[in-house]
Amino acid sequence: MNALTQPPRLADHPVDPMFVTRHSARAFTDATIDESDLLSILEAARWAPSGANVQPTRIAWALRGDAAFADILASLADGNRVWAERAAALLVVASKDHVEKEGERLPHVSAAFDAGAAWMSLALQAHLMGWVAHAMGGFDKAGVARRLGLPDGHTPHVVVAIGRKGDAASLPEHLRPREVPNGRMPLDQIARRGGF
Ligand SMILES: Cc1cc2nc3c(=O)[nH]c(=O)nc-3n(C[C@H](O)[C@H](O)[C@H](O)COP(=O)(O)O)c2cc1C
Repeated sequence: MNALTQPPRLADHPVDPMFVTRHSARAFTDATIDESDLLSILEAARWAPSGANVQPTRIAWALRGDAAFADILASLADGNRVWAERAAALLVVASKDHVEKEGERLPHVSAAFDAGAAWMSLALQAHLMGWVAHAMGGFDKAGVARRLGLPDGHTPHVVVAIGRKGDAASLPEHLRPREVPNGRMPLDQIARRGGF
């Protein structure tokens, strides 16, 4: 199955097509990414909203061939590394989890939420530019933090693989059925007028 034979996702209410056509593919071509494209993708993350505009999101990125790409790749769970090794770029999305106020370190409670908004912004920008952005929580957080010099008081949340969508046939057999875009719960299970 490839992009042309996948069933379309159908929205129950009108939305911009980007929300349903984006999906977390794993099959990548061998395409490389120009740094300028990657900077546009990161720029979208920069403009994500954050609590009190504190902007706690921190992103380490590497293009395939960079030493840091190998470091990030090595941190991935085996089941992710097997397909993410073909990515054109790997990103680690982290957040600074504290703010300094009058010399004191206070927890920044919305840091993870804000990093999530940044991830989604970059994923949609990547999609609009014809790139797949696939987030992964399956990685060695302490290991990647150490290898990439993430300062104390920061948390890595996801590794993001960015690549051009390839043919599902290039994937290990067990991953091919998962290349089909998945669905969602009905809207009334996640959003209700007047209460939960
Ligand atoms: C925080 C987070 C962690 C994820 N971890 C993984 C992962 O380790 N491996 C993987 O293949 N996909 C991972 N995904 C991708 C999700 O499985 C995927 O987003 C979800 O099934 C919805 O599919 P879609 O993104 O194609 O719409 C992760 C996504 C998020 C947001």
